[in-house]
Amino acid sequence: MTTITPGRGIFDSANAEAREHVVELLVKAYWMEIETVMSYISASVNLDGVRAQEIKESLTEDVQEELGHAQRFAERIKELYGVVPGSEEFSAEQSFLQPPEEQTDTVHVIRGVIEAETGAIEHYTGIVEETEGVDPVTQDMVIEILRDEQGHRRLFEGFLREYELEGQA
Ligand SMILES: [Fe+2]
Ligand SMILES: [Fe+2]
Repeated sequence: MTTITPGRGIFDSANAEAREHVVELLVKAYWMEIETVMSYISASVNLDGVRAQEIKESLTEDVQEELGHAQRFAERIKELYGVVPGSEEFSAEQSFLQPPEEQTDTVHVIRGVIEAETGAIEHYTGIVEETEGVDPVTQDMVIEILRDEQGHRRLFEGFLREYELEGQA
């Protein structure tokens, strides 16, 4: 009869505590992505003005990308024997991405996006550090997502720079 021996790594029963901690980090990441989807949908629709079109298009694309991130985080939570939380556990944090008073206030949205992306970059960098030598699979996935967020932030920093040069930000 074959005895099933627990493998090494994050699924080892000796690492249950580490696994639960990684799940907590992933749940936070999952909520950040979900809130970003909400904020980017509203911004991509609400903005008015000729020059806002580029920002709106970019955010419309990002909605799909952030949704994909949320789904990847959810899958990984499940793989680590966690449970993807229900909507009642959601609590909003992106005060900086609420609709501006004037829907032509593109700069408000650009700054909000940069702040959201920065928050994600900080949290995901933390996950990469904490999973080092503990859970290389989660680490690998988060590195990929982290790169997407760095790209998003860089793009919006470029948009902001343009407004700053014109003295509009
Ligand atoms: Fe994301
Ligand atoms: Fe992003």
